Amino acid sequence: GNSLSTFGAGKVILLGEHSVVYGHPALAGPLSQGVKARGVPAKKCQLVLPSTLSRAQRTLLLGAFNRAAKLVGEPPVKVSLDPELPLAVGLGSSAALSVACARMLLLAAGKAPSSKEAARLAWAMEQEFHGTPSGVDHTTSAEEQLLLYRKQPGASSVGKGKTVDSPRALKVVVALAGERSPTKKTVAALRQRQARWPERYQRIFKEMGKLASEGAKAVEAGDLEALGDAMNVNQGLLSALGLSSTPLEEMVYRLRSLGALGAKLTGAGGDGGAVVGLFTDPESAVVQLTRQGVRCFSSQLAGPRAL
Ligand code: MEV
Repeated sequence: GNSLSTFGAGKVILLGEHSVVYGHPALAGPLSQGVKARGVPAKKCQLVLPSTLSRAQRTLLLGAFNRAAKLVGEPPVKVSLDPELPLAVGLGSSAALSVACARMLLLAAGKAPSSKEAARLAWAMEQEFHGTPSGVDHTTSAEEQLLLYRKQPGASSVGKGKTVDSPRALKVVVALAGERSPTKKTVAALRQRQARWPERYQRIFKEMGKLASEGAKAVEAGDLEALGDAMNVNQGLLSALGLSSTPLEEMVYRLRSLGALGAKLTGAGGDGGAVVGLFTDPESAVVQLTRQGVRCFSSQLAGPRAL
């Protein structure tokens, strides 16, 4: 009878992944798809995982869950997950999962968690997954708003997101391309390159941060073309940083040829993963891509919704 259910939204980064790790702003929004958690009273606090996960994924998830559970005094709840998002493709499934679990643990401990409290607990889980995460993923997931996010300088705590209002419906198509590399690996490899050529890499990070700020202004002004242009330029810079690959580039160009105002990889990039395209009419792009065998879906990140 008294089962609990919670939700953590997936996220998509429109501008500024990676540079956000170095303290520059990023523009990110929530997906309507995410991860659901269900909790039932039990003798002890435990997580039941979907059977589709690999052994490594299970170990990682259990470690992260146990860390968060300890922080809230291990409430006696059995938590199971129902992911609506493809896991580990760069859509913030780990953050969505962290937020869903954090909300569940707090609820089971008798609290009615605010999005800030959920984000704070999810942060402990995210550190298990990513090593040195910026916090953009789980903050966007918990707040469920389009955010201009910035890591707190020097702090090991969660950063701050400023809500970006959109007078227009901000619609995207997310398409999957190739086999994804783990975020931790991509972030670490970039860290080595930037440690060797710091000035060159800092220049590019700074420019990416500027694109994110300009993109947020474009959203507020309802100028989707300007946002799309910033996304295209951002893709060029991600590619310059060695974060793109043939499958990602091909999908970027495919989305552009289907009428995207802007298209780029989203999330960590690497050998493959997710690509995001900004569209005024995402549905016709989804139909065409699906017909071509591409795994994809559309989502509205912000702005007025049709009834
Ligand atoms: C991953 O979704 C986004 C990255 O910028 C990593 C992070 O922000 O922690 C690549």
